[in-house]
Amino acid sequence: MGSKITVESIMGMKGKKKIVAVTAYDYTTARICDKAGVDIILVGDSAAMVMLGYKSTTPITMEEMLVFCKAVSRAREHAMVVADMPFMSYHISIEDALYNACRFIKEGNADAVKVEGGREFKHVVEAMVDAGIPVMGHIGLKPQTAPLWQGYKVQGKVVDDDASRLIEDAVAIEEAGAFSIVLEQVTYEVAEMISSRLSIPTIGIGSGSSCDGQVLVLHDMLGLYEYSPRFVKRYADLSSIIADALTRYRDDVLNARFPGEEHTFHMDAKEYERLKATSIAMGARSERERENQEQKEEGKGRVGGEEERVGVGEGRRARWRGGGRHQ
Ligand code: KIV
Repeated sequence: MGSKITVESIMGMKGKKKIVAVTAYDYTTARICDKAGVDIILVGDSAAMVMLGYKSTTPITMEEMLVFCKAVSRAREHAMVVADMPFMSYHISIEDALYNACRFIKEGNADAVKVEGGREFKHVVEAMVDAGIPVMGHIGLKPQTAPLWQGYKVQGKVVDDDASRLIEDAVAIEEAGAFSIVLEQVTYEVAEMISSRLSIPTIGIGSGSSCDGQVLVLHDMLGLYEYSPRFVKRYADLSSIIADALTRYRDDVLNARFPGEEHTFHMDAKEYERLKATSIAMGARSERERENQEQKEEGKGRVGGEEERVGVGEGRRARWRGGGRHQ
């Protein structure tokens, strides 16, 4: 797959080659993403929704994000791993922000962090970059705070206090030293203007084709999450494939078609004969026979009936409780 992607290689792709980014949160899918040749794996705080079932990205904690980040970092060989700073991990103080960003680098083994916010977080991005941590910005729709204000709306539709603010935000984040910036749900026109104005790459999500790269939430593009926004292209419908596989598995188990002979392990025939001759095996058999006999005598011995099964199970449990299994 070639050498490991670095901040320098991402910045050098601007104007030459589109940057391909996708989210992942666990070892197995991150491994697939890495092998597929994506440039950036974003451990997005979208994990709050698609992995943990929260209604928004706001509740996810540093501890939860670190678990995902560590798993993804273990998987990657080629891609750059960017960890999303969750809500409240950089809002209170610079010390907090630096401490949490450092945790992603040191404990999570991430290559960079992402910070949601424009001008108001310029000083935070600056402090992180000064501390040697590469930062990806994120402006436009900001899912951590959008539900508290205007909701999930396309940004940059009007000039005043919208498109002009976005451009100022993008410039501020570039000035602060970010190496790239995500533009989420920004109109094509504004995204194009920002992309040509900045010297760092823009990575769009729902912001049209003029961005220097694209990012999608893995669960959206693979059809794993119930809801997906209009800007998502679904490359697969994994929900149906998984549901179909599970239905067939269930049918196979219920109808004793699984496990088959090819999934079964056997003892050597001689060893089996020896086992049958041991007192443990004989004891188990004779206890079962005795229990069956007792039940028959009590008039409950319907073969295959509920009472018989419960009775035999009870006998075994009683033996285990008494330590008989190990004696
Ligand atoms: O959390 C996330 O997945 C993101 C992307 C939508 C850019 O921030």
